[in-house]
Amino acid sequence: MADPTLFAQIKDPSNRADPYPLYARLRGHPVTRQDDGSYLVSSHAAIRALLFDPRISSADLPPAHSPPTGNPLKDWILRPIKDEIVSRHRPLIFRDPPDHDSLRNIVMTQFTPERVHGMKARTESLVGELLDKCRGRDEICVVDDLAYPLPVTIICEMLGVPREDEPRFQGWATQLATALEPDARHDEETQAENRRTFDTISDYMKGLIKEKRRKPQDDMLSGLAAKTKAGAMGDFDLIATSILLLVAGHETTVNLITNGMLTLLRHPDEMERLKHDPERAPRLIEELLRFEPPVHFRTRKALADIPISGQVIPKDAAVVLLFAAANRDADRFPDPDRFDPDRPDNQHFGFGGSLHYCLGAPLARIEGDVALVTLARRLVNPRLIDDPPPYRDGASLRGPKSLRLRIDGIA
Ligand code: HEM
Repeated sequence: MADPTLFAQIKDPSNRADPYPLYARLRGHPVTRQDDGSYLVSSHAAIRALLFDPRISSADLPPAHSPPTGNPLKDWILRPIKDEIVSRHRPLIFRDPPDHDSLRNIVMTQFTPERVHGMKARTESLVGELLDKCRGRDEICVVDDLAYPLPVTIICEMLGVPREDEPRFQGWATQLATALEPDARHDEETQAENRRTFDTISDYMKGLIKEKRRKPQDDMLSGLAAKTKAGAMGDFDLIATSILLLVAGHETTVNLITNGMLTLLRHPDEMERLKHDPERAPRLIEELLRFEPPVHFRTRKALADIPISGQVIPKDAAVVLLFAAANRDADRFPDPDRFDPDRPDNQHFGFGGSLHYCLGAPLARIEGDVALVTLARRLVNPRLIDDPPPYRDGASLRGPKSLRLRIDGIA
C-alpha cells in the first residue's frame, strides 16, 4: 500500500519546489486511498481511462454557502435563494454533460481561431512594452514585470473589459483561483472571501453586459451577451463563464511563463537554441507543459464504484487526477525526468484531456511562445538570483511567487 499521507505531503508548501520525488513514490501505486478519504490517481493510463469515464464527475464543489448577515429577511429567504442560484450556475469547468457541452459550445462560437490568432501581434507589442519599462535596471522579476500583468490584459481585451478597469481584475483572478485548491475550498474564511469577490465581479459584469447589449462591439462579451439575449445561455451562466475565462487563464499562464523561464535558465543550452531559433518555441512549450505543468492536478467525484488498477474507487469519493505525476510516467515517456523539447509523441496532460480539455490552450500557447522567445532574445546575460525561487501556496496551480533575475541590460 502507498503511504496514505502522500497527498498531505504534496499539499505541504515545504514540498512545493520539488514535488516530483513524491509523485514517483505514488506511481508505484497508480490508484491509492489517502487518509483524507480521497483517491489519488498518478499513472498516465489510469488518468486517461478516468478522463473518458462518464462515472467521473467534475461537479465536485461543495454547495454554495454565503455567510449569515444577521438580517433575518436576508438570512432566511434571500440568502438560500442566492446560494441555490450560484450552486446551479457553476462555471462550466465544474459542470457535467449535457449542460457542460452546451455551455462550452456557446463559448467556442466566440473563442474562434481568428480571434485567438488575432491576439498574437497584440501579445508581441504588449510583451515588448512591458520589457521596455524595465530598461536601465540590473534586476527584474519575471512574475511582476511580465508574466502576471500579461494574461489579464489579453483576456480583458478579448472579453471587452475597458482598459481602466483591468487592474481590478488582477486581484479578483488571484483570489478566485483558490477555488481550484482542495483545502482552500473547504476553508470558511477563503470561501467567504471568494463569495464576496464573486459578488463584486458579478455586479461589475452585469453592468458591462448591459452596456454590451446596448452598444455591441467586436469582442467576446458582446457576442456572448447577444446569445444570452437570444435565450441560448442564461445571464447567470454568462456571468459565471466570463469569470471562468478570466480566472482559468490567469495564474495558469503566469505559471507557464515563469516555470518556462526557470527551466530555460536551468538548461542554458536550450535558452541559447531558442534565442537563435524561435521556431523551436512550440516544441519547447509542449515539453514545458509536460515537464513543469502549470496545473498539477484537478479533482473529480466518483458517481459510482469504479474498479481501476486493482482498486475500487467507491461512489462519492473525491478523486485527484495528478496530471503532473502522469506526465513523468516512464511507461508513457522514455527518460521522463529529462527536459527534452525534441521528444516525439508528447501527449502530456498539461491542458487536461477529454471533455474538459483546456479551452484556452491555443491562446496560452501564443502567450507562452511570445513571452519566452522575447525574454530569451532581449535579456542580456540573465542569471537566477534564487534557485529554487519562492513558490506560491497553491499545490494545484503551482508556480513561483517571484522569479528575480540579475541582468546586464535589455536589448
Ligand atoms: C498555460 C496556460 C494554461 C494551462 C496550463 C491550462 C490548463 C487547463 C487544464 C489542465 C484544464 C482542464 C481542467 C479539468 O480537467 O478539470 C483547463 C480547462 C480550462 N481552461 Fe485552461 N489552461 C491554461 C490557459 C487557459 C486560458 C488562457 C484560458 C482562457 C482564457 C483557459 C480557459 C480554460 C477553460 C474555460 C477551461 C474549462 C474547460 C471545460 O471545462 O470544458 N485556460 N485548463
